[in-house]
Amino acid sequence: MQYPGKLITFEGLDGCGKSTQLAREAKRLSQRGIPVTATHEPGGTKVGQHIREIVLHAASGAMTSFTELALMFAARAQHVEEVIVPALQSSRTVLCDRFTDSSVAYQGYGRGISLEVIQALEKSLCRGIRPDLTIFLDIDPEIGAQRTDARNRAASEKESRFEQEGLEFFERVRQGYRRIAEQEQKRVRIVDGRGSVAEVHAHISSLVDQFLEVSFPRSRNGV
Ligand code: TMP
Repeated sequence: MQYPGKLITFEGLDGCGKSTQLAREAKRLSQRGIPVTATHEPGGTKVGQHIREIVLHAASGAMTSFTELALMFAARAQHVEEVIVPALQSSRTVLCDRFTDSSVAYQGYGRGISLEVIQALEKSLCRGIRPDLTIFLDIDPEIGAQRTDARNRAASEKESRFEQEGLEFFERVRQGYRRIAEQEQKRVRIVDGRGSVAEVHAHISSLVDQFLEVSFPRSRNGV
């Protein structure tokens, strides 16, 4: 099903800086008069926020990989229905912090769940919603770990269940993202996440502008 709005997702390892970049991009687009919905996964709805707490909270303890995957898709199904589809129907540009690629990278490549299982869940639960553009912010897992440590210390927060994983896990997740990007070069654009916030944002905004220009020729995006 084609909707008039567009879905742009931001993906990458923990600590890649995508939330900051998404907020900047949402602000930039809004200032140009483009109706934007900024949202995130797991979360984005009340139900999704409860699920987020269960799935990320270290105190949840051991969780099977399938439980983790099912919870991610439970949150996503609610999010698609309650937030994403209505926004796309109203011609909004949706900027979503993580989507199905996170499940492929983390639960598929990271945890080792077969990609067919993930594709089957996507097909049954996501109402055919796939991102129109994906920004993959690529960073070295060691840099990601250092950034999340610093952020957690500054906020006096504990590590999430994922942040407690070792570097090998994040290396697999990164390879997963790179594989997705290789297979879908038109949709997934790799952005080097090592630069300053402003440098990385300049790269992202040029990719978003190019994409909007092609999707909405003429004045819709004000360029
Ligand atoms: P965040 O800190 O970027 O909001 O991401 C929350 C964590 O959830 C992050 O470690 C990645 C993980 N995650 C998955 O493993 N699978 C998924 O499908 C999603 C959406 C997130």
